[in-house]
Amino acid sequence: MDVRLAVTSKRDSRAYSGADVPDEVARRILDAGRLVGSARNRQPFRFIVAEGEAVPSVADAVYVAGNVLDAGLVVVVVVSPGGNLVDFDAGRAAQSMMLAGWAEGITSCPNGISDPDALARALGIEPPERAVVVISFGPPRRARDPERRSPEEWSARAKRQSLDAIVSHVATAAG
Ligand SMILES: Cc1cc2nc3c(=O)[nH]c(=O)nc-3n(C[C@H](O)[C@H](O)[C@H](O)COP(=O)(O)O)c2cc1C
Repeated sequence: MDVRLAVTSKRDSRAYSGADVPDEVARRILDAGRLVGSARNRQPFRFIVAEGEAVPSVADAVYVAGNVLDAGLVVVVVVSPGGNLVDFDAGRAAQSMMLAGWAEGITSCPNGISDPDALARALGIEPPERAVVVISFGPPRRARDPERRSPEEWSARAKRQSLDAIVSHVATAAG
């Protein structure tokens, strides 16, 4: 999929078909996370794939359990401390993984963690490491065809702030 089409058509879908994400696709998704840049190339993240009996425990630790229970691939992004850009680096990895999945027809949604202690216990995450987000992936329940609209149409339809609202141009040096 063209990058512009992937970026404009990606939405955070929570409705999965229940099918698994094929192993080779999961590997490419995880590899996209591995490859992102990070502050001083520290790569302060790792990814835990929750499988089998771990999945219900992870589901219990996020706000909407069903997002995780129905997913075909569950990835927990974990960071180790070091500077104030660790969460930014984790976000880069998360979005790259979601876009890599979307480019292969796999939809996804980030899940906020409602019970970090329970999640850490379930997955054996010890301080100073910390789970940042749980990403659920899966083939979409309803067939998706990003090609049915142009990138410009996807952009115009997105429930997002306008560019004018969030972009300003500054050409003078203040102070
Ligand atoms: C850090 C983060 C945590 C999120 N947590 C949840 C969540 O717990 N449950 C959920 O259903 N969606 C969650 N979302 C998804 C947002 O609701 C979604 O990004 C937003 O509504 C835009 O959705 P759209 O891309 O479908 O328009 C989360 C998103 C982010 C970035």
